[in-house]
Amino acid sequence: MAHQQTIGIIMNGATGRMGYRQHLVRSILAIREQGGVLLADGVTRVQVEPILVGRNEKTLAELATRHGIEHYTTDLDEALADDRWQIYADFLVTKARAQAIRKAIAAGKAVYTEKPTAESFDEALELARLASDAGIKNGVVHDKLYLPGLQKLKRLIDSGFFGRILSVRGEFGYWVFEGDWQAAQRPSWNYRAEDGGGIIVDMFPHWNYVLENLFGRVESVYAKAVTEVPERIDEQGHPYAATADDAAYAIFELEGGVVAQLNSSWTTRVNRDELVEFQVDGTHGSAVVGLFGCKIQPRNATPKPVWNPDLADAHDYAGDWIESPGNREFENGFKTQWEEFLRHVVEDAPNHYDFLAGARGVLLAEQGLASSREGRRVEMPLVTLSGSDVPPTADAGAPELTGAR
Ligand SMILES: NC(=O)c1ccc[n+]([C@@H]2O[C@H](COP(=O)([O-])OP(=O)(O)OC[C@H]3O[C@@H](n4cnc5c(N)ncnc54)[C@H](O)[C@@H]3O)[C@@H](O)[C@H]2O)c1
Repeated sequence: MAHQQTIGIIMNGATGRMGYRQHLVRSILAIREQGGVLLADGVTRVQVEPILVGRNEKTLAELATRHGIEHYTTDLDEALADDRWQIYADFLVTKARAQAIRKAIAAGKAVYTEKPTAESFDEALELARLASDAGIKNGVVHDKLYLPGLQKLKRLIDSGFFGRILSVRGEFGYWVFEGDWQAAQRPSWNYRAEDGGGIIVDMFPHWNYVLENLFGRVESVYAKAVTEVPERIDEQGHPYAATADDAAYAIFELEGGVVAQLNSSWTTRVNRDELVEFQVDGTHGSAVVGLFGCKIQPRNATPKPVWNPDLADAHDYAGDWIESPGNREFENGFKTQWEEFLRHVVEDAPNHYDFLAGARGVLLAEQGLASSREGRRVEMPLVTLSGSDVPPTADAGAPELTGAR
């Protein structure tokens, strides 16, 4: 006979772009719709029961009605004090996050959060320590790892396809409208440093977990951050100064010798198959992966180009690549990670994507910004809860933030 239990989830910021679409609709409501998450015993299902938390009661009521959700409140403290809710999930603007998570940890909830976990590395590490001291389960969104393209890439790596991986080159970006003659497709706080915006703060936490989980720990970063569009128009039609970086060009050196160059930009026009694309070159083969696609070129199907400036090259280089098949269904990555986190909370299934991983992501963003400001390559110290694993060999270029951590 099938058993069922229910777990209550506080969803703070469920009215936002990520909170609503990816976490509420595509993840929690989809899990509720399918009858919950099946546990390892193959019979027990854990159903989910969300409570929406936000600042505007009317918006929450509308959302709740639209999706048949029974519970909502504007009082976070009340929800945190209520034992029906075992998980606190945070999709707030980055600036509001740490304060809310501190409260959730103090209330003994398991915590799942969007990235970046905090605005500064100190704060992100503090959250990791608080969570560890309180013995609460904690998780951070690592959605890019669950993209079909990156899952296929992982499979290629695991199969030994690449031989020795040499380098990774990635392009992420698209044009985000300024807001004057067409509305911007991202919230205006993204372009104000004082409100937690900036493409480095937004994207480097992603790059950190993508690189460390697929290719090796990030050992150093050189980044150049720029603000290409200095003035934008906000949601109310008012001009504002864009004080945050909207493009970043970076080189990461990884443990094991792989070099990754990643461009992140909200000021570029797409001439690729997808909004993010990575080319991985190895001694035995290369791959180009995006959100969904993955094409490969093994060494024994590699053409032999000869440089000749006098003759237009008629060779179809794009035609040399082979599409790698999916061979399985890929579900929405946010949902898959939610299911894993629920199993982590309920039956202690493994979870490597915790607050400490989140803190490493915040640190990479911080070091990237420091690198850009100072015009030099910056080392990435090892991050542990005790903060004692800072490499003693860090050169003169190493950040002074090492010792105390
Ligand atoms: N994983 C990803 O791919 C991804 C993509 C985009 C954004 N994000 C992250 O998700 C988070 C939310 O981003 P978004 O694009 O959905 O933003 P958003 O502006 O659409 O939503 C933010 C939410 O926070 C609430 N909020 C705003 N200010 C607040 C305050 N002072 N106190 C309490 N609540 C407040 C808003 O009402 C809204 O519900 C950010 O931390 C961002 O970095 C992650």
